[in-house]
Amino acid sequence: LLGAYCHYTERGAQPGEPRPDPLMGEFGRAFTDHMLECAFRQGEWQAPRIVPRHALALDPGASSLQYGLQIFEGMKVYRPKRPHWNAPTPDVVRLFRPLENMRRLYRSAARLALPLFDAHAMLQLLEEYVRVESAWVPQCDADEEGLTPALYLRPTLISTDARLGVRRPSEALFYVIASPALGSYYSSSNNTAAAGVTLFATDAFARAWPGGVGDAKCGGNYALGLVAQELAITEGCQQVLWLDAQQRVTEAGVMNFFVVFDDGAVCTPPVDTGMILPGVMRDSVLQLIRSGTVGAAPGGRAWRVHERALPIDELTRGIVSGRVVEAFGTGTAATISPVAGIRYREREYRFEARARPLSTALKRALDHICYGDESALEAHPWLHPV
Ligand code: COI
Repeated sequence: LLGAYCHYTERGAQPGEPRPDPLMGEFGRAFTDHMLECAFRQGEWQAPRIVPRHALALDPGASSLQYGLQIFEGMKVYRPKRPHWNAPTPDVVRLFRPLENMRRLYRSAARLALPLFDAHAMLQLLEEYVRVESAWVPQCDADEEGLTPALYLRPTLISTDARLGVRRPSEALFYVIASPALGSYYSSSNNTAAAGVTLFATDAFARAWPGGVGDAKCGGNYALGLVAQELAITEGCQQVLWLDAQQRVTEAGVMNFFVVFDDGAVCTPPVDTGMILPGVMRDSVLQLIRSGTVGAAPGGRAWRVHERALPIDELTRGIVSGRVVEAFGTGTAATISPVAGIRYREREYRFEARARPLSTALKRALDHICYGDESALEAHPWLHPV
């Protein structure tokens, strides 16, 4: 269990003090000025601290560096939009479904043989950290269309013991850093957020395999995608559409993947294969569709979700025949990212840019939850005020 108290060495700016940064337009380039850290030694979590952000001192033999014993989370903190530009900045900031991230971090820790922790206690630490850094949660106004400002949190757990034998680590470090972001993961690159991402479907590389770590959030799952993504770029696309050994679609770049059919069926690969990251945004989207929050499909038919395998041939044939009308990716950083087209075996399959009924409705519903009226937001079960 984590220590019962947490202290910080320096107070951050107060809510309402703007913290503009020229790098805020590019995802993950600007950082706040504090970090939270909590070491694990001799079988116990030590007292956590919130300290000025600093470089880590790691033994070069640390097994996180040698064997990739590392996991992380991505989560966001939102501030409600002001009704107009000269309205006061709302003081309250809210984490989005943070316990889900702490539970996933726990499952990743279990899979990567890293020390376990109490997810609720970890969430209390995050709350304390967000209070210190709350002035960094960006603000925008209701009439500023297309912006999705948030403070992105990156909780990270690494092994720190210096030992070259491959074994369960006895020392580790949990830390949290934060990065203010004005838009989504893709918004800084050629207006991709609005135009949609283009995907290169390939089985030349694999992101995950049965019995592997595809459902854990570990750095290695992202490192192994870099060369594949460079290949996608040389093929004129932006991201990889990952296929499994049976030529079924799994994930899109760093996102979960959804496909929408003209009869209102919505298809996404199931997470029980162990090869798909159980995304918090993926789950939120499934809940919004199943609860009827995003209304009905064009023609008045209800949306129907199918968590099932989707062969790439079914997808490409569906785009050609007009049965598949829309595709999009979901992720904390990427939010909801429409897919503009797919390249597979030297052919292009393009989506009609105007026909994005579901991703448009989902974006609107999520914006309403994350940025809407303060009193309504307080009541929403997905928001966790600090
Ligand atoms: C996230 O969406 O939070 C992720 O962790 C993906 C990352 C590559 C930005």
